[in-house]
Amino acid sequence: MPEEKYEPKPEAGKELNRRDFFLKLGLGSLSIAAAGTTVFAYQFLSPNVLFEPSPIVNAGRPDSYPIDSVTLDVNSGIYLIHAKEGFFALGAACTHLGCLTVWKPELGIIACPCHGSKFKREGEKIEGPAPKPLPWLRTWVSDEGDLMVDRSAAIRPMQFVRV
Ligand code: FES
Repeated sequence: MPEEKYEPKPEAGKELNRRDFFLKLGLGSLSIAAAGTTVFAYQFLSPNVLFEPSPIVNAGRPDSYPIDSVTLDVNSGIYLIHAKEGFFALGAACTHLGCLTVWKPELGIIACPCHGSKFKREGEKIEGPAPKPLPWLRTWVSDEGDLMVDRSAAIRPMQFVRV
C-alpha cells in the first residue's frame, strides 16, 4: 500500500493574512522613506542663513564716560576708552586665542586671564603669547550724539574721536 505523503493544505485565510502583512510592511517602509526624503528635500531647499547680531554697538552718551576711564562692555566685547586726546574703542578679545581680557586699573594695563598676555591701555602688547596688539575699532558720534563703535572695522591706532 503506497504511503500517503503529507502535504499541508494551503489555508486561504492564513495565506491572505501573510500577503497583507508583507503588503503593509512594504507600504510602511515606502512611507518612511518618502517622509525622510521630504524632510531632507525641505532642508536642502530652505536657505542656510546665519543670523548674527549687528557689529555696530551704540555705546551711549559720551558724558557717561569720565575722562581717563576704561570701560569694558562684556556683552559686545569692546573697551570704550575716554583718554585726554578723545574717545577710542578697542576689541577686548585677546589676539592669542580670543579670551576676554580685563582692565586692571591698579596696574593701568589690560590683561588676559588665560595665558598672561598684557597690553597697554592703547592696545599695544607688553608681554605674553599674543601675536598682535588689541585692535582699534572704528568709532564715531551718531546724529543723536551717541558714541557708536563698529566691531567689524579695525582702524589704524591713535585715531581719537573728539566730542
Ligand atoms: S588667550 Fe590671551 S594669552 Fe592666550
